[in-house]
Amino acid sequence: MNHLPIVVGISGASGAIYGVRLIKALVETQVEVMVILSDAGKGVLFHEMRMDPEQPFSDVLLASGVGPDALDRVTVLSQHQMASETASGSFLHSGMVVCPCSMKTLSAIAAGYADNLLTRSADVCLKERRPLVVVPRETPFNLIHLENMAAITRAGGVILPPSPSFYSFPATLEALVDTVVARILDHLKIEHDLIPRWGS
Ligand SMILES: Cc1cc2nc3c(=O)[nH]c(=O)nc-3n(C[C@H](O)[C@H](O)[C@H](O)COP(=O)(O)O)c2cc1C
Repeated sequence: MNHLPIVVGISGASGAIYGVRLIKALVETQVEVMVILSDAGKGVLFHEMRMDPEQPFSDVLLASGVGPDALDRVTVLSQHQMASETASGSFLHSGMVVCPCSMKTLSAIAAGYADNLLTRSADVCLKERRPLVVVPRETPFNLIHLENMAAITRAGGVILPPSPSFYSFPATLEALVDTVVARILDHLKIEHDLIPRWGS
């Protein structure tokens, strides 16, 4: 079991459900999660979850099937809380996932432009050589997007596009999303049984 927290940054790209399903899977395996919401991420998330932006983020998790007990394992931070633990390399954690990652946040991470808690925490991950999984969402990609992904890859991050797979015959939207979440958990070395493994 993984005993150190995982940091999940949610930026303003479409696909908030990927971040929410990831948080659900993490807390269900007893992992503590520090969620960092960008301002745009919060707006897109509440829109896509069809919820009132005045509601707390915990309501999104509850509506997504996260049990009330598991909420104790979630800390929610905004991009403005720059003095939070994850802004420092001295705070130990097992890695960070930016999911979904907007092209703006992608460019900030690629350039080391750490002007908010989300981008600073990703920058810290790279400098401390901790796992950083970036889940970029845009289509199509222009050359700037692709070059930013290459820069993050060279710096040690993993670009993991939300490209669902179909060979496990996902029957629901959630099951389809989980084909991506499963690969993220694999990269964090967190055991799960979200989808059957090929050959099992
Ligand atoms: C409904 C909605 C969907 C969006 N989807 C995307 C997207 O898929 N990818 C992207 O790069 N930007 C998307 N954007 C634009 C970003 O939210 C915008 O660039 C924002 O400044 C990103 O800020 P952040 O990276 O600090 O979260 C979307 C905006 C809205 C309102």
